[in-house]
Amino acid sequence: MDGVQFPVIGNSIIMATVILIHVFFAFFAVGGSILSVVAEWWGTKKKDDDYIRLGKSVSGFLSDMMKINGVLGVAIVVLTIGLWSQFGAFLYSVQFWPFLAEGAVFLMLMIFSVIYHHTWDSISRGAHIFVGICTGFFALMAGFLINGIWAFMLVPGKWIQTHDRWDAFFNPILVESTIHILLPTLINASLLIFLWTFWKSTKTQGAEQAYFNKMNLFTGKIGAALLFLQPLSGASFIIKVKSATETLPAPNPWQQISNGMSTYFLYTMITLAAIAVIGGTLYWIWGHEKGRTALVVASLAMFLAFPMGAFTRERARKPYLVWGVMPMNQQLLGEKKPETAAGAKLDGNQVFHNQGCLACHTFKGEGGTIGPDLTNVSTKYDKTKLMAFISQPQGAAAMKMPPFSGSKEELEAIADHLLKK
Ligand code: HEC
Repeated sequence: MDGVQFPVIGNSIIMATVILIHVFFAFFAVGGSILSVVAEWWGTKKKDDDYIRLGKSVSGFLSDMMKINGVLGVAIVVLTIGLWSQFGAFLYSVQFWPFLAEGAVFLMLMIFSVIYHHTWDSISRGAHIFVGICTGFFALMAGFLINGIWAFMLVPGKWIQTHDRWDAFFNPILVESTIHILLPTLINASLLIFLWTFWKSTKTQGAEQAYFNKMNLFTGKIGAALLFLQPLSGASFIIKVKSATETLPAPNPWQQISNGMSTYFLYTMITLAAIAVIGGTLYWIWGHEKGRTALVVASLAMFLAFPMGAFTRERARKPYLVWGVMPMNQQLLGEKKPETAAGAKLDGNQVFHNQGCLACHTFKGEGGTIGPDLTNVSTKYDKTKLMAFISQPQGAAAMKMPPFSGSKEELEAIADHLLKK
């Protein structure tokens, strides 16, 4: 059964948009939960109410954000099932337990963050900090679980052979990708609050201004210190993806990263990360007063690097999801390709239909309009060139058309079919 086509903007754009907004806020929610309790603990230790005040305002902002994010999370589930029914059914089945645990953990996170926010002044500091630590723990767990599911879509690992649910969740990149995702939650949350307190310090005077300046220093230092760890975690993550996927059948994630659309996103991300690291370095060299502007630039570079990283990962793992078709699905599902008796000729028309080419192309009056009409393709390609193009689309099609995932015989049958007069 085919999935729904989302009107006007298409499946990929709607999905990418909702996921990006969701993950962007989730970053602040996870990092903010931890920062909030760190500020409270630090204020208690130093006997300085300013830090406790900061923790409280962050916690208020967070509980609002989590409500929005809950709604977006549900939207993602609905979109996955509706727009990619086959893939959705597969994913929710293989990752059933992690998804269920994610739901439970998110519920705990909501409960604890509400308690944390509303008991700020009514229970003892020690007990309140404990509630804050629980909130932070559940936030980290929520990030860990969803990342495991996400990592599986990029690197299926041993699961391809064993079809064991444990292997699906505990995939080869689980640890590296978790670090690479959880670290920037803290960095981004610190830098966001750094920007906010900076802005507030220019709008206020006297004691208020002194408060915002102090908090600006506090969050600036945390953000600028953690910033340097992220490129390291990124490098170890990429090395792991390479070793875990370069031997998988094409199109595999490593090919997509090193020599596909993802490469552009990856290089943009690396450039932005370099700008962020330079900004962070200047902040330390020039000191807080003079170096603040450099850290503002670094923060903006970090926030922009985030969607670039997200796109790299999305593209790498799935021409099949992003482009609304799933050539990798058969590999993931481990379905056997129909066997043909030796020497028997495949029915090109049949293969052409089965491979989903007609979703995008019209051929002899039948099919879709996303790609060009293939009726007269014989005027442009001979058999060799046509087969080469279909197995590795070039030019504009490299972005839009999934590489052919069937066997060589099937490829040949399609070419013959398309070139038949
Ligand atoms: C997701 C949509 C999509 C699917 C599925 C798809 N294609 Fe394409 N294909 C495109 C687009 C888009 C282009 C042209 C890009 C451009 O040059 O602007 C294209 C280009 C082509 C071309 C080159 C046409 C020319 O005039 O240069 C051929 C041949 C082709 N596709 C064959 C196939 C075959 C065979 C299949 C199935 C195995 C297939 N495509 C599946 C989107 C798709």
